[in-house]
Amino acid sequence: MNGQRVLVTGGCGFIGANLVPNLLAAGARVVILDNLTRGFRDHVDTAQVELIEGDIRDPEAVQRAMQGVDTVIHLAAYGSVMESVTDPNANFDINARGTLTVLEGARDAGVERFVFASTGGAIMGDTPPPVNENSVPRPLSPYGASKLCGEAYCHAFAGSYGLNTVMLRFGNVYGPWSAHKKGAVTVFIKALLTGEPIRIYGDGSASRDLLHVEDLCDGILRAAASDLPAPTTLHLASGAETSVAGLANLLKKIAGRPDHPVEYLDGRAGEVSRNFADASAAERLLGFRAARDFEAGMRHTWDWFLARRETVLATQTSDS
Ligand SMILES: NC(=O)c1ccc[n+]([C@@H]2O[C@H](COP(=O)([O-])OP(=O)(O)OC[C@H]3O[C@@H](n4cnc5c(N)ncnc54)[C@H](O)[C@@H]3O)[C@@H](O)[C@H]2O)c1
Repeated sequence: MNGQRVLVTGGCGFIGANLVPNLLAAGARVVILDNLTRGFRDHVDTAQVELIEGDIRDPEAVQRAMQGVDTVIHLAAYGSVMESVTDPNANFDINARGTLTVLEGARDAGVERFVFASTGGAIMGDTPPPVNENSVPRPLSPYGASKLCGEAYCHAFAGSYGLNTVMLRFGNVYGPWSAHKKGAVTVFIKALLTGEPIRIYGDGSASRDLLHVEDLCDGILRAAASDLPAPTTLHLASGAETSVAGLANLLKKIAGRPDHPVEYLDGRAGEVSRNFADASAAERLLGFRAARDFEAGMRHTWDWFLARRETVLATQTSDS
């Protein structure tokens, strides 16, 4: 990536905050397009990156952000499963129309590589795990459907315009800079910090494929720098199945509170029950491996939250 100009849409969010320093370390020049609705200016070092505050649905803002860009990493999205169930139109507008607008901008600017942030869980719904690139997507939520739609446009832009697209289906990502998220790891850690009970929807047997954000960033960089043919779809996942109850127990242990209370509530419509993915294609084609030890990764995440306890507890959650 040395010397390349890389546009990261949504670069002020959780994954962007972790990815951008990795891109800078690889010698890339980074420009971010973010409307800061779900991300934060202080997630990035604005002395080192060019931050354009704008919306991915605005063709003029997209055109401005694309100038001189070699690679696009399209992270900006409406990422919440639960909010997508409440408001499927708003979700569609950002994830489908927004992605189409970014793809058109990339095509018009002659971008060399386009990386799309997709999802392995929501897109697959209740397809029996482990899922891989040959499994049939069966989204249960509007969020999953909008990401599948984004993938479809990435395919079509490779087929119709020769845009060099790669679609990466992320597992459930955890790690630093996720205080604003609503996923289980963030919510459980916050409960442990406040003393509130850990609330689990369903009986705790639902499972997730938990991937440390540094492993994910390594996979994204490998895909961005690769010569994979377009279009290519790959799962970036840990390949391990962790139950939600098992996750709660691990975090209670790490926090030194094995007796912390857990409350079980009714399951929520739109949420996937079992989910984990086989990432062997990404290993074969990119040399990707989820290398970080799971417990060490969770401990690292807990330590990050603990060190910022006051700020973290003041951060509104607006996303999953
Ligand atoms: N976090 C996960 O576990 C996970 C799993 C699978 C896929 N993904 C995908 O990875 C990507 C990044 O996720 P994240 O966890 O960092 O989310 P995030 O919500 O923390 O970050 C998204 C960023 O996009 C920005 N954004 C949202 N709408 C925008 C718009 N219309 N125009 C410009 N910017 C906009 C937000 O302000 C935010 O900074 C998303 O596409 C998400 O769907 C995430």
